[in-house]
Amino acid sequence: MAKRTLSQLAPDKNLIGGKWVPDEDGMTLESRNPSDARELIGTFPRSRGGEVDRAVAAARAAYKTWSRVPAPQRGALLRRCAEVLAERKEDLARLMTREMGKPLAEARGDVQEAIDCANFYSGEGRRLYGETTPSELPDKHAMTLRLPVGVCGIITPWNFPVAVPSWKIFPAILCGNTLVFKPAEDTPACGAAFIKALSDAGVPPGVVNLVQGRGEEAGAALVQHPGVNLISFTGSSEIGKLIAASCGKTLKRCALELGGKNAQIVMDDADLDLALEGALWGAFGTAGQRCTATSRLIIHKQVKDGLVSRLVKAAKALRVGDPMDAKNFYGPLVNARQLERVERYVEIGKQEGARLLCGGKRLSAPALKHGFFFAPTIFDRVTPAMRIAREEIFGPVLSVLEIGSYEEAVEVLNGSDYGLSSSIYTRDVNRAYRAMRDLEAGITYINGPTIGAEVHLPFGGVKQTGNGHREAGRQVLDIFTEWKTVYVDYSGRLQKAQIDVTA
Ligand code: UN1
Repeated sequence: MAKRTLSQLAPDKNLIGGKWVPDEDGMTLESRNPSDARELIGTFPRSRGGEVDRAVAAARAAYKTWSRVPAPQRGALLRRCAEVLAERKEDLARLMTREMGKPLAEARGDVQEAIDCANFYSGEGRRLYGETTPSELPDKHAMTLRLPVGVCGIITPWNFPVAVPSWKIFPAILCGNTLVFKPAEDTPACGAAFIKALSDAGVPPGVVNLVQGRGEEAGAALVQHPGVNLISFTGSSEIGKLIAASCGKTLKRCALELGGKNAQIVMDDADLDLALEGALWGAFGTAGQRCTATSRLIIHKQVKDGLVSRLVKAAKALRVGDPMDAKNFYGPLVNARQLERVERYVEIGKQEGARLLCGGKRLSAPALKHGFFFAPTIFDRVTPAMRIAREEIFGPVLSVLEIGSYEEAVEVLNGSDYGLSSSIYTRDVNRAYRAMRDLEAGITYINGPTIGAEVHLPFGGVKQTGNGHREAGRQVLDIFTEWKTVYVDYSGRLQKAQIDVTA
């Protein structure tokens, strides 16, 4: 059972300079339970430019001192954050399941990912390594240092409402930055609960500021703010392009984690039981609402018919319903808009001539009719040119494509505009190694589904999935720090690089 009331866990205000404050104009947005939209979870500030201004000013003021705190001490604070999150894990997970509808076990995993992240970057406080290297000149020393970037704007989606913010916020503050965080408007309570945990753990006032609101209001104000040095955004490629264009005008740094159209390849020598289980989890886990979700299944023709008929049987048997009930495989989609989007794509698939094998409709049994539940959906006879094979749907919809060889599988998988996660099931070790090289994606799983990234490895993708950055792992430090190169000349004379060098 939940130990804390909602207001203790997730204040319905913004956090600016260490104070929880309402929106100045009293504007609010509502958070509702997607399993039953009649249930209001809370109302949160619908902030605009004024709140963003104040939050950026608070972050700027805190930057002066925070950036000078030794990194090992900043790291020690992250350890405390991990402890507070661990202590509140159950409360946070239950709130998450209520607010965005992922099953409780997955919500616990989401919070665990944030705990892992805090622990991992906590240790980084005692590394944050630069390099030393010989100079080409005598009595001269050369080295590199990592320095913070400044004030960061952090904008995150609703599907991993604690994990994804943690991927950005923990490394950002570990590196000495301060920030303003704008959570998704569908998950303001999770955003507030996460930030409350950090502030209770002792993150100093102004280091992490929270501004609730809509993307086109608070989010846009943050992106455009001249006092913000860096934007880190996870969301759709469409919005990512707008953010990149806006940041481009002032050359503001921006790191973008965007869409995916992830595929699992099943070769004719695969362990088919394993491939089946992987496809179910990859396609329908979190109701397909992961940027790493499997939305294309590329199957060798030798094994296709058998595998697809077993898959359809298994998909039909999946229980969909109340995400608090452990018997249900997945819960609702996050909101009515997402439901309509998925319905639209099912229509598109039918019109394109794909064959609907199961699902394709909203679930409207009496217990589900006030929520946004959608049946597990599989399309067969999908061709690479179809929109359902190309566009990100973000729901429990799987498109099956048939191939006749490894080369063709690679071509189909790589035919996407996106390149986040990929997977191949094969028992041929040579082919597995080839796939590691050939699949155009930031992440490749061998004999595992497209989901399941761990925090100590880089996360991100190629093509329209991002703009070349990687989150998580040590690699995210390249987003949240600037490299400083330092030359120390202790020769006592002017030495000229490239010119005074004799050898
Ligand atoms: C996302 O979908 O935005 O690998 C992140 C996974 C999770 C993270 C997904 N650990 O599916």
